[in-house]
Amino acid sequence: MDKNFWTKVISFFRAKPKAFINPLKVDLHSHLLATLDDGVKTHAEAVEIVQQFYQLGFTKLITTPHIMSDTYRNTPATILDKFQEFKQEVTAAGIPVQLDVAAEYYLDETVLAILDSDSQLLTFSGSYFLFETNFYSEPLLLTDFIFKSLTKGYKPILAHPERYAYMNLKKAEELYHRGVLLQINSLSLIGFYGKPIQKLAQKLIDQKWVHLLGSDCHNLMHAQLQTEILKDKYYRKAVDLPLLNNQL
Ligand SMILES: [Fe+2]
Repeated sequence: MDKNFWTKVISFFRAKPKAFINPLKVDLHSHLLATLDDGVKTHAEAVEIVQQFYQLGFTKLITTPHIMSDTYRNTPATILDKFQEFKQEVTAAGIPVQLDVAAEYYLDETVLAILDSDSQLLTFSGSYFLFETNFYSEPLLLTDFIFKSLTKGYKPILAHPERYAYMNLKKAEELYHRGVLLQINSLSLIGFYGKPIQKLAQKLIDQKWVHLLGSDCHNLMHAQLQTEILKDKYYRKAVDLPLLNNQL
């Protein structure tokens, strides 16, 4: 046996596992506009979060403040104003991350009225928009809402399907086939919202019914947990799916 052969064998067993490089470059779900919702409290906190994401390899962040009829009555004007301030702070801090803004629409009368009027929803990357629903029971108007938004040319993304009590694999499959894009929260994968939610997120990944991963980052603690998330087995399985994140 030549000496070279044994040198190769030894170096093979000594080789360190390759470092994982986060392939996800774009995050599409966060609450980084201070005081507009239950997200960050100050621009300074938001800047620190952007820095964290930049260090984890993200190059673009789309922030999505809540719009809810009875709690967060944000409008395109209030959102765009605050977004300009936020953008200036990030630029001043010298973080080379691209920023964009839209909203996370709660399925209620406000979003339904927009769809029924000539007004436009806040979208990103063309016609994508993010929505969430009641956490407990399936909204009666869900099917109608999806149909209307698709008919108007929007691409609806359901935020964190795994977090709704009414959600199961059958329901997720139905939504998937209706043309709803499903966005799992990366925090769900490390059990942040509890075991059942983690399990459902894992099953959705196993079924390949996941179009997007989102951070749903509300605060610095959520951002710091991203480092843990990158080590998660299911996160790595999810980023192997043909996710849409990097196309946004
Ligand atoms: Fe959210």
